[in-house]
Amino acid sequence: MHVGLSVKIALVFASLFLLFGNGLVIYKNFDADWRLHQKEYLEMAVEKTTDPTTREMLMNRSPRIDQLIIKQFGDTRIDRCMTCHAAVDDERFKDAPQPYTTHPDIPGNHGFRIFGCTSCHSGNGRGLSTYDAHGEDPFWLEPLLTGPYVEEGCAKCHPAPFLEETPHLRRGAALFIEKACYGCHKVEGISTGKLGVELTTVGTKWHRDYLVESIELPRANNFESIMPKMDLTKDEIRDLTIFLECLTGENLVIGDVAHYNTLNEWKNQEPTEVPVTIGSGRQTFDRIHCAACHTIDGVGGKIGPDLSVVGLQRTREWHIQHLRDPRSLVSGSIMPDFRYSESELAALGLYLESLTGDEIREGELPIVPDEMTDTEETGA
Ligand code: HEC
Ligand code: HEC
Ligand code: HEC
Ligand code: HEC
Ligand code: HEC
Repeated sequence: MHVGLSVKIALVFASLFLLFGNGLVIYKNFDADWRLHQKEYLEMAVEKTTDPTTREMLMNRSPRIDQLIIKQFGDTRIDRCMTCHAAVDDERFKDAPQPYTTHPDIPGNHGFRIFGCTSCHSGNGRGLSTYDAHGEDPFWLEPLLTGPYVEEGCAKCHPAPFLEETPHLRRGAALFIEKACYGCHKVEGISTGKLGVELTTVGTKWHRDYLVESIELPRANNFESIMPKMDLTKDEIRDLTIFLECLTGENLVIGDVAHYNTLNEWKNQEPTEVPVTIGSGRQTFDRIHCAACHTIDGVGGKIGPDLSVVGLQRTREWHIQHLRDPRSLVSGSIMPDFRYSESELAALGLYLESLTGDEIREGELPIVPDEMTDTEETGA
């Protein structure tokens, strides 16, 4: 019985010791990050304050967690960012180092205490260390958005047609059309392309690096990829990525993908009946952005063949059938089948037939060797 008691006492001491030890570790973890920033902030604030009462108050204040509860935009958010970013709305901190710097001026009237921070910046609002709060954990699906990427946050509340104040997003959306991505990729409400994978919710599926790689070097993630390597600048790839990351199939304001239908630029992509003339064929060529892949008279992309003299090589009927269904004539063709009205097809046929190089050669007929015609049909 005596032995039993001493064992019990020993156990109590042991568990107390463990409890204390654990508590110390947890306390130290906290102390390392948010407490330190609060202390530093308070010291700076005291320095900048002249009014004696406020000064006194700040000197006596102990570090605390500053927490915003945001309910009006989608799921309830708990944002503790201002625990460290304690002076975002204090003009006196303009030249202070991060995380104490006054927030830069931004368009619109979004009071921090109403909108919080993660609405625009993502990250993990509950985090109390920089690593957690900034969503640096690879398993956290909403890493901090900075620089031009913040526009992805704007899009959650200001969806298409995108605001002028979000220029990168607008450019990314325009490039998706201009570079003919839409011809291969379906995005609900925007495009109907079938050759590539559907991208309606691609923003929820991949990390940024994967998207950048998929655009920059399609074979990086799939060595058999038929997606062409487009000639894009770093900035263009970044803006396309910003646009793709916004494709989540939902937004905080409207709640489903129907809003994309309002995007005027894309509405203009709908096929309409046109007069059957060479001129309107050229306009259709521009509407579809065929030049993303084809060069005519030195202007355009290099993914498809140069079309400068295609009128000498193919008939109008061949063109129309090829446009309707490229793979019916050229097996394995990666040319997308776009949507055309019947009159647009006829006009495109006329226009392609008119491409004989006459203009650049000033009337002199080019000599087209026989091998240049009818190769792909049988070869590929
Ligand atoms: C534990 C303290 C802490 C918390 C909490 C915190 N931050 Fe930070 N933040 C920092 C520090 C320190 C820096 C400057 C150094 C750095 O970038 O890591 C910083 C920098 C930033 C930057 C600039 C980054 C850049 O690359 O220019 C942004 C934006 C930012 N924080 C947003 C947020 C948001 C949004 C939250 C809440 C989800 C948040 N922070 C929560 C400490 C914190
Ligand atoms: C309405 C959207 C919006 C909200 C809400 C918002 N920010 Fe920002 N924030 C921006 C924009 C836009 C920028 C400028 C990005 C750029 O061009 O570098 C920015 C810049 C910053 C920077 C500076 C980054 C740098 O590179 O210097 C920090 C830090 C920051 N925000 C933190 C916060 C914190 C903390 C909150 C919450 C108190 C917050 N933001 C709320 C939109 C917002
Ligand atoms: C959480 C939702 C939300 C986010 C995120 C958001 N806004 Fe807003 N924004 C609003 C609301 C709501 C208003 C109307 C506020 C008012 O007028 O009181 C507004 C107003 C504006 C306005 C004024 C013109 C207008 O259309 O009413 C501009 C410009 C603007 N926002 C730009 C931005 C930019 C740029 C970003 C990203 C940096 C952004 N917003 C992020 C909700 C949001
Ligand atoms: C000729 C058709 C074609 C064109 C044009 C095209 N893609 Fe693709 N893309 C594909 C195919 C097919 C895949 C599927 C996987 C593969 O083969 O790599 C793909 C894959 C992708 C992926 C990866 C998606 C995922 O879930 O893995 C992204 C992102 C993407 N494309 C973006 C773009 C962008 C942006 C453009 C315009 C610059 C573009 N694509 C133009 C055919 C195309
Ligand atoms: C994503 C890139 C891409 C886009 C956009 C594209 N094409 Fe093509 N096109 C190709 C490829 C690759 C070929 C070669 C395979 C084939 O003939 O189908 C081709 C072949 C052709 C040919 C046959 C050329 C020859 O010499 O055999 C014509 C004509 C043509 N395209 C016209 C068009 C027109 C008109 C448009 C716009 C409505 C267009 N293309 C849009 C990639 C593209």
